[in-house]
Amino acid sequence: MDSYVLNHIAKALVGPSVGILAADESTGTIGKRFQAIGVQSTEENRRNYREMLVATEGISQYISGVILYDETIKQSSSEGLRLVDVIISKGLIPGIKVDTGAKPLAGTKDELVTEGLDGLRQRLAEYRELGARFTKWRAVITIGNDIPSSYCIHVNAHALGRFAALTQEAGMVPIVEPEVLMDGTHSIDVCHDVTRTTLKQVFYELNSQGVDLTGMLLKPNMILPGKAGSIKAEPSEIAERTIDCFQDSIPESVPGIVFLSGGQSDDEATANLDAINRKAQEIGVSWELSFSYGRGLQSAPLEIWKGDNVNRSRAQQAFYNRAYLTSAARQGKYDKVMETNLLEI
Ligand code: G3H
Repeated sequence: MDSYVLNHIAKALVGPSVGILAADESTGTIGKRFQAIGVQSTEENRRNYREMLVATEGISQYISGVILYDETIKQSSSEGLRLVDVIISKGLIPGIKVDTGAKPLAGTKDELVTEGLDGLRQRLAEYRELGARFTKWRAVITIGNDIPSSYCIHVNAHALGRFAALTQEAGMVPIVEPEVLMDGTHSIDVCHDVTRTTLKQVFYELNSQGVDLTGMLLKPNMILPGKAGSIKAEPSEIAERTIDCFQDSIPESVPGIVFLSGGQSDDEATANLDAINRKAQEIGVSWELSFSYGRGLQSAPLEIWKGDNVNRSRAQQAFYNRAYLTSAARQGKYDKVMETNLLEI
């Protein structure tokens, strides 16, 4: 695939006011989210929920692309249209999660390795045929007693490289996601060091495996203190530490960084993205700094939808509002007062 085309897709995904909706929860993960709101995880409910999100009027002002799960990319809407066609008709780019999940890493106690390379070339060809133009692979790095091991970082980075090379060969843009989890009591310094080491290893593998850095996006965590720790950090500190870490580990040729929300509340994920963009504008950085949020965009609409289509338009309004706020943050133009001064669809 022409490197120009991959770069063009990557840049469209991180346009000036837009970012990505990650609606690629595996059946197990969406089941947990549905359980929390008392909704049964049937194929129809999963379809109705995701259809509700992507059919939101005017959403392309704030969202550029949607990451789907294998089931969703093959589903049809309640009106019999392919969900992918609904997405395209809204002006959004369809993407697909292609890993098959993080599994226990042999020889370790609490570490994980992401699987899904077997048969990936064939699956990528099928997904492209179905309409996908970008893909995602999530590796998980856990911070704890004496972990992460360099073994865990190495095998996950190697798999990310193989996934990215295969994706580009298939004519799609890979979103390379090495997530350093925010679970635990570790300090912001530890998160900074582990993330920097991980990103350096990931770019070593991407370069060794011939990945075109101009035709990919990186989906990292922000630099945060562990969620269970007692010391919290202000958005300004998070912004400073995140950009400092990235300047040391992410090549300038990568067109964009799309953060995961990773278990932050939706307003935290918005405020932190805003602070990061403000800092980036102050010092000047080469990459676009946008979002690829799952929970950060979906918490409010999921809670309102509650499995009942009677709540559909209110849930869409909540999704629209959070997307509007996150888009403002992506530009460094968010203000807390905007949370109470929202737009009608
Ligand atoms: O792989 C992770 C998801 O695509 C993003 O989910 O924003 O809820 O962490 P999250």
